[in-house]
Amino acid sequence: MEKIRILGNPSLRLKGKVRISGSKNAVLPAIAAALLTEERLQLQNIPRVKDVFTILTLMEELGARSKLKNNSISIRAKRITSDEASYELVRSMRASILVLGPLLARYGKAVVALPGGCAIGSRPIDLHISGMQKLGASIALEHGYIRAEAPRLRGADVEFEKKTVGGTENLLMAATLAQGETVLRNCALEPEVVNLCELLVKMGARIDGIGEEVIRIRGVKELGGATHEIIPDRIEAGTFLVAGALAQGDITLENVDPRHLVTVIERLLFSGARVDGLDDRTLRVVGSAEIKPQDITTSPYPGFPTDMQAQFMVLMTQASGVSIITETIFDRRFSHVNELLRLGASIEVHGDKAIVKGKTPLSGAEVIATDLRASASLILAGLIARGETVINDVEHLDRGYERIEEKLKLLGASIERIKY
Ligand code: EPZ
Repeated sequence: MEKIRILGNPSLRLKGKVRISGSKNAVLPAIAAALLTEERLQLQNIPRVKDVFTILTLMEELGARSKLKNNSISIRAKRITSDEASYELVRSMRASILVLGPLLARYGKAVVALPGGCAIGSRPIDLHISGMQKLGASIALEHGYIRAEAPRLRGADVEFEKKTVGGTENLLMAATLAQGETVLRNCALEPEVVNLCELLVKMGARIDGIGEEVIRIRGVKELGGATHEIIPDRIEAGTFLVAGALAQGDITLENVDPRHLVTVIERLLFSGARVDGLDDRTLRVVGSAEIKPQDITTSPYPGFPTDMQAQFMVLMTQASGVSIITETIFDRRFSHVNELLRLGASIEVHGDKAIVKGKTPLSGAEVIATDLRASASLILAGLIARGETVINDVEHLDRGYERIEEKLKLLGASIERIKY
């Protein structure tokens, strides 16, 4: 097991440059897309995070061969030798569900464990399943598995009842090899969905409406290989922007795409921080002594991202006044609150709202991480808490952040990883 230990300092000033890694949430569907072709995919700007290693293990079990060198992956599913995504893999990473669409499209069969819930909510996949059924798949749910079969998927008109990133990605991939045209309505607009569409088009897919709510896909007989760059991780970038605002820092973020962070930047500017786009791949954040409170409501892209909610909550604990944070995407995404209370924060949760009172000085304590973004918020809080903070269960953190403690150390934080 490993822990992160931070020697916090309320007058910490983080300064320097940090290079943001590739997006975890863009690379996972891109790797799953390798199942759609017998040719090779070359993916660049890959984050070396735990979820990448997990999905590569799953892909190898399905018959793919992959090589990860520095931040590039070469992967090829010349033959699919198994159609089963086992429970132990799916349980460790619910994004494994993203192999359902590609397996059905290329192989006609898929047996994928139901992902179950996680610390941030129930995480159903009913929209993935109903979409596949509309494309002609017959699906049985038994013994905790989805058993899906489709000799040949047929194009259909599918409207998502609610915005789903994974559902949009799964149906997009399935539709590329379906017979005829598929229309997907109420699609998720996240940059990670756009990045996947761009990869699929490079592979030979015929997609219109990329980045829009209605996407048309005309099925083709087969897809080919491609070389593709994964977009920067906008949530890692947002996390470092908040770190700069929180610790009155002066941090330059390299390898970011400012266009993916418009709402987050807006909120940081409103809180009193300065955020400048130095060019189309660089952002500079300068924190201010006075942090203004504000109400935030998470919503699907381009709204305020749910994946930034926990991090922003920490900033609001240092704001001079009351902020109300409303979480509309997941039904239980406040598990970080109890841990922040241990650090001295003053937060009350009422249903989907967290009322954050600032400015509250934080004091270091031992805390436990429950999910990926909650872990990041505890690190942010530990940086400015007086005294030592120890964060247990950092494997959550490693799922989505590449060497975050090394990046923060280079910016002046007293932070280390300890094995025990
Ligand atoms: C993706 O999860 C991200 N994960 C999540 O990031 C992110 O929080 C989420 O999108 C929302 O932006 C990856 O891309 C790997 P959804 P996903 O389907 O696709 C409900 C992180 O920290 N829903 O957009 O699973 C669902 O319960 C992770 O990096 C259904 O009801 O999210 C939720 O309330 C956490 N039925 C809402 O829709 C379905 O079939 C949005 O979920 C599917 C989803």
